[in-house]
Amino acid sequence: MNRIRVNLDRRLNASYDIHIGCKILDRVAPVLTKIGGASRWFVVTDENVAGLHGERVLGVLRENGLAVEAIVIPAGEASKTIGTCVDIAGRLLTSGADRTSGLIALGGGVVGDVAGFAASLYMRGIPCVQVPTTLLAQVDSSIGGKTGVDLPAGKNMLGTFLQPRAVFVDLAFLDTLPAREFTNGLAEIVKYGIIEDPELLAAIEEGAGALQARDPVLLERLVSASCRIKKGVVEIDETEKGLRRILNFGHTVGHAIEAESQYAIAHGEAVAMGMAAAALISERKRYLSAEDRERVVSAIGRAGLPVRIPQSLDTARLMSRLATDKKKAGGRIHFVLLRKPGMPFVNGGVALECVQETIEALKA
Ligand SMILES: NC(=O)c1ccc[n+]([C@@H]2O[C@H](COP(=O)([O-])OP(=O)(O)OC[C@H]3O[C@@H](n4cnc5c(N)ncnc54)[C@H](O)[C@@H]3O)[C@@H](O)[C@H]2O)c1
Ligand SMILES: [Zn+2]
Repeated sequence: MNRIRVNLDRRLNASYDIHIGCKILDRVAPVLTKIGGASRWFVVTDENVAGLHGERVLGVLRENGLAVEAIVIPAGEASKTIGTCVDIAGRLLTSGADRTSGLIALGGGVVGDVAGFAASLYMRGIPCVQVPTTLLAQVDSSIGGKTGVDLPAGKNMLGTFLQPRAVFVDLAFLDTLPAREFTNGLAEIVKYGIIEDPELLAAIEEGAGALQARDPVLLERLVSASCRIKKGVVEIDETEKGLRRILNFGHTVGHAIEAESQYAIAHGEAVAMGMAAAALISERKRYLSAEDRERVVSAIGRAGLPVRIPQSLDTARLMSRLATDKKKAGGRIHFVLLRKPGMPFVNGGVALECVQETIEALKA
C-alpha cells in the first residue's frame, strides 16, 4: 500500500493523505477515527455502486467501528445537480446530521463532485472523505478539492473548493468497472504522462497489453504516479490560478467535442482527441517536433483511445463552441501546448484558423 501526502495550508489544517492499494477498505475506519472530524458518517453513493459494492463497504466500515448510513442517488451525470444536493441535505436533516457528521463519497466523479459540493454547503461545511470507484475518479476528481454541480446552461457551473479529509483509492473497485469507463480513466493517466512524466508515458506504451488486462501491479504503479502528479500540481496551485491549468491539456478541444456530440463521445475519448489536437497545434506552431508529436499520439492510441475526430462532428460548430469557451481572449484561444513530453505551457493565444485547420486535419 502507498500513502501520498497532499501538503496544503497548515493554518487551516488542510493537508491530507491519499491511500492507494488493493483491498484497503479496512484502513478507512482507523484512519477516520484517528483524524477525527466527525462522529457519524453518511456514505453517499450511486445506485450502480450501491448495488455492486454498497453492502460490503458499509459492512467493512461498521465492523471497524464506524457509525455509517447510506444515501443513494441515481447514477449518471444527470444527477450532478443542485436538486440532488438539496435531496442529500434533506436526508441529512431528517437523519439528524449536524456539524459532527461527515460525508464519505463512494463512487465515480459524479458522486465525488456532488457529495463534496453538498458537504461544503451543509451547515456551512462538514468534512468529506473520497472513496473513488472509477479510474477517472481515482486519478483525477477525488484529489484536489474541486466540487460542483451542473446547470442546464453548462457543466460544473456551480462549485466550491473543499479539500477532502482523506482519499482511499482501492484498486479492487476497478474489477467491476465497464471497459469504456476504464478506458476513459486511462485518458487522464496518459495526460499526466504527456504533461509531466515521460517515464509514465513509456510505461503506458510498453505495457499497453497488460494495461488493457488491468494488470494490478502495473495499475497500482500508474495510478500512484498519476496521484503523485496531481497532488504536486494541487499543492502549488490549490485554486487553479496558474499551474493547475496545465491539467487542462487536451480539454479545450475535448470539451467542445464532448458537448457537440451531446456527450455520446465520453469525456476520456474526447480528451484523447483533444490531446491529439493540442499536440498537432504544438507541432504546427513549431514548439514540438514531429517525432515527439508522433510519440504522444502513439501513446494515446496504445491506451485504446481515439486520436481522430469523427467526420460527423461539424467543424464550424466545434469552432463556435471553442470561440465561446471561457478560455478565449480576443479572437484567440488559450491552449495548453507542449514543447516536449513533460514540458507543457499555457499559450496565451492560438489563432482560430490554426485550430480550425488542426481539427480538419484530424478528421477521420
Ligand atoms: N472535481 C474534479 O476535479 C473533477 C475532475 C474530473 C472530472 N470530474 C467530474 O467527474 C465526472 C465524471 O466522473 P466518472 O467518469 O467517474 O463518472 P461517473 O461518476 O458517472 O461514473 C461512471 C459510471 O460508472 C459507474 N461506476 C462507478 N464505479 C463503478 C465500479 N467500481 N464498477 C462499476 N460501475 C461503476 C457509475 O455508476 C456510472 O454509471 C464528471 O461529472 C466530471 O465533471 C471532476
Ligand atoms: Zn478530464
